[in-house]
Amino acid sequence: MNAHSTTHEELHAEIADKFDTTAMATETTLLNPRFYTTDFDEMDRIDVSPVRADWDKLIAQMKSDPNKGHFKKNAEWNQIDWESMDPPLRREFIDFLVSSCTAEFSGCVLYKEMKRRGNNPDICELFNYMARDEARHAGFINDALREAGVAVNLGFLTKSKKYTYFRPRFIYYATYLSEKIGYARYITIYRHLEANPDQRFHPIFKWFKEWCNDEFSHGEAFALLMKTDPKITETLSARLWIRFFLTAVYATMWVRDHARPEFHKALGVDIDWYDQEVYRKTSEIARQIFPVELDIDHPAWLPTLRKIDAAMRDMEKGTRKGGVGGWVQSKLGAARAGLAFARLFLLPVRKNHVPASPRLEPAY
Ligand SMILES: [Fe+2]
Ligand SMILES: [Fe+2]
Repeated sequence: MNAHSTTHEELHAEIADKFDTTAMATETTLLNPRFYTTDFDEMDRIDVSPVRADWDKLIAQMKSDPNKGHFKKNAEWNQIDWESMDPPLRREFIDFLVSSCTAEFSGCVLYKEMKRRGNNPDICELFNYMARDEARHAGFINDALREAGVAVNLGFLTKSKKYTYFRPRFIYYATYLSEKIGYARYITIYRHLEANPDQRFHPIFKWFKEWCNDEFSHGEAFALLMKTDPKITETLSARLWIRFFLTAVYATMWVRDHARPEFHKALGVDIDWYDQEVYRKTSEIARQIFPVELDIDHPAWLPTLRKIDAAMRDMEKGTRKGGVGGWVQSKLGAARAGLAFARLFLLPVRKNHVPASPRLEPAY
């Protein structure tokens, strides 16, 4: 069959054959976004009275639902010719969308479950608004995937993806960070494309500005939740865990982004620059609540991240190769990645003086 007689549907089917996006989203690896579960009863017992004034203001803003009409396609949504997209770019872009959709949906599932299980009116109201937002975000990305014929089956995902248990304290660290990083990632891409509109190869990026404000508010909510109890952030063990989560989340982002060279090339974004920029914004914002901050300007910071990335690639190559040789290569890679991660974790950190009220407004 020649290209002229190939229909739209057939090409869609061809793309769909290559990308089982539901399987991609369901897979549990070190780097894929995970689904979380926690001790919902403990979370339900949070008393927000120590932060009541800030809390009520934030909840009123979420209730007003500023992005109610935002996640709808309009004339700004130009049709994308998925078929003629360069295949390596298409692969990485679909991977980016699937991973973003999974991360958004992961938030939705966790927040909805908290709302469902809770009795605390403050907590239920907050998680209801956050679940509402994340459902819109995941749905909007999935619509973009649907146009390529490869939407993720979110219902199936809810039932079949493995859930990782985190104690509430770890949920606060991880979720706070992922919300603020989400904000920093979306706004950095948005600002870059605002200055370089010719590199906006898909319309979804036009939606990132209002979108990232949702993530910003979600992060604010977790900052307030952590602020209700000094034990969550101030003790020695809290400081160590925060440091660990910062290191793990930053390193994961580095490896994940560096696996998508074509995607970043198409956007005209230097990945090292982009990741450092996202770390910088996130670190500045996190001074609102975290008493420690990673030194991303330390001379060993970037070289150690590169070592982790190289080791993880070797690990993956070994796994793909299989056999005894592959097994050895994979284990050696894992050991090197572990050592480099320990080195990154042990780099000196900066201390922050956390303000009395954490509240911030989006400023980038
Ligand atoms: Fe979101
Ligand atoms: Fe969010």
